[in-house]
Amino acid sequence: MTTRVQTSDADGSYEPIARVLVSRRRLTARVAELGAQISADYAGREIHMVGILKGAAIFMADLARVLSIPATFDFMAISSYGAGSESSGVVRFIKDLDESIEGRHVLIVEDIVDTGLTLHYLRESLTARGPASLAVAVALDKASRRQVPVPVEYVGFRIPDAFVVGYGLDFAGRYRNLPYVGILRPEVYTR
Ligand code: PRP
Repeated sequence: MTTRVQTSDADGSYEPIARVLVSRRRLTARVAELGAQISADYAGREIHMVGILKGAAIFMADLARVLSIPATFDFMAISSYGAGSESSGVVRFIKDLDESIEGRHVLIVEDIVDTGLTLHYLRESLTARGPASLAVAVALDKASRRQVPVPVEYVGFRIPDAFVVGYGLDFAGRYRNLPYVGILRPEVYTR
């Protein structure tokens, strides 16, 4: 069983985490910058935030609260990973949007772009629904892993190809609630 006892480390890290990659403080500061940039870019308009479950929930909640423009929410669920940790290339559709996006300024919100397969699929399928505009905000970008080029208008942090969890990202459903992005110890996912 994975030990989840909180250590006395100053950064509040859990034992399954080898190293904090992006601290809570840096996340907060960068999200505030993104919020200011998005608010300026969309000045005078209302933004329709589309969060991709489940990973985007934390970033979307933080980003939404630093916007100074009106915003509405919807959520979609699609899965590209199945049970493993590698992208299969197969995008599985689980939950559609509740509302039409026709004529709206849509901002897709994601926790991470990795191979780009998920975002590529999302951009194509949402563009076909006739939004007034479509842009993407991601908390993390593993650019070295890209298999398909995909535009990403707002990026929090470019990160190396490490097994990261926290700030919405999971391993087997766990660690999404860590307030920082941490590198998981290999013992946790190789056992
Ligand atoms: C993650 C992430 C993206 C996708 C990115 O979702 O939230 O949707 O993978 O990978 P890609 O660029 O290689 O397509 P995941 O399927 O792990 O679901 P989750 O958000 O519920 O954890």
